Amino acid sequence: MKKIAIVYWSGTGNTEAMAKEIFEACKDKSDPQLIFSDNFKKEMIDDFDRIAFGCPAMGDEQLEEISFEPMFESCEEKLKGKEIALFGSYSWNDGQWMRDWEERVNKDQALLIYEPVIAYDYPDENVLSLCKNLAEALCR
Ligand SMILES: Cc1cc2nc3c(=O)[nH]c(=O)nc-3n(C[C@H](O)[C@H](O)[C@H](O)COP(=O)(O)O)c2cc1C
Repeated sequence: MKKIAIVYWSGTGNTEAMAKEIFEACKDKSDPQLIFSDNFKKEMIDDFDRIAFGCPAMGDEQLEEISFEPMFESCEEKLKGKEIALFGSYSWNDGQWMRDWEERVNKDQALLIYEPVIAYDYPDENVLSLCKNLAEALCR
């Protein structure tokens, strides 16, 4: 059974709804942990087979800067060859933050196991079903 971490930050609950959907969909097939970004450290990376990182667009097309960005930045040195997935919500622009984030993890040589899942505001049925697909890829 794969050990999966779903590591996220969310201010108003939209990214959290995606994280919970992924977590619930993983429960039957793997051993998932839902972890708020404050509580994740780079030392924990090796404890998991796969990690889904979730963060909304904040600042100016950036990751949330107080909790998520410092945590994620510290993890990057350990992401080479690591199987990960990305997700998050946005509402002011067109999803540029996720294109930038994807480029960043590609430079880190992380292995994206599923296309980044993005939600405009609160995730609708279509996005929630993509979250389920992402969960399936995490558990495979
Ligand atoms: C301080 C702040 C900065 C934001 N910056 C962006 C942005 O650069 N681009 C964007 O598309 N949305 C931006 N948003 C909108 C959020 O990404 C959007 O409301 C998202 O659904 C919040 O997700 P959450 O409920 O998981 O916190 C910003 C919101 C806040 C509060």
